[in-house]
Amino acid sequence: MSNILAPSILAADFKILGDQIKAVADGGATYLHFDVMDGMFVPSISFGMPVMTSIRGCTDLFFDTHLMIEKPDRYVEEFAKCGADGITFHIEADPANALQTIRHIKSLKNRNGEPLRAGVSIKPATPIAAVLPLAAEADMILVMTVEPGFGGQKLIPETIDKVRALRAFVTAEGLDTDIEVDGGITEGNIADIAGAGANVIVAGSAVFRGDAKANTARLTELIG
Ligand code: DX5
Ligand code: ZN
Repeated sequence: MSNILAPSILAADFKILGDQIKAVADGGATYLHFDVMDGMFVPSISFGMPVMTSIRGCTDLFFDTHLMIEKPDRYVEEFAKCGADGITFHIEADPANALQTIRHIKSLKNRNGEPLRAGVSIKPATPIAAVLPLAAEADMILVMTVEPGFGGQKLIPETIDKVRALRAFVTAEGLDTDIEVDGGITEGNIADIAGAGANVIVAGSAVFRGDAKANTARLTELIG
């Protein structure tokens, strides 16, 4: 399983979003991370369906959709229609319906007729025990390495142990579940977090502050 860098457009320059997407693709990115925030589940509001719809036609990158919203199951079909390839929701947003939401996401098709990939995310304070029962059905588990809601924060060191423990569980169970991390990833810590077992790595500021193409190429090289 090769490691994947997922540039987060939350940190992109929206005046030139199309150019920024081309830059990360030219730098070797295969994923693009969408941080959808509703101002309720997290204190910020970011962007939603219109932005995804407007850029779907200009790139073939995998749209890795991170829903930081209340009751996420309400919107999975909308985001599938707008071009999502994967949808990740927070277990804290609707714990009672987590398995149903995973199955709902996987029942949907992307623009190529392929099943959407389903992810479930945990905040830094949520133990991995909350998602272990879902690991066999989820395609990916996102371990937040910052408190969701804002880009440009510092990685919370304790979350690295959560990644390590989750990777050990997935391996012991013989699962091929992806483990994603998101928040505070830099050139200085990306190799460690990959070494702990994350294989999908979100980076916003570290990619889009400066030369997005060169930053993407360098970070991709560091995760091997
Ligand atoms: C937090 C967001 C951010 C973003 C990445 O809710 O999910 O973590 O993707 O931000 P950086 O890489 O700038 O910390
Ligand atoms: Zn995110």
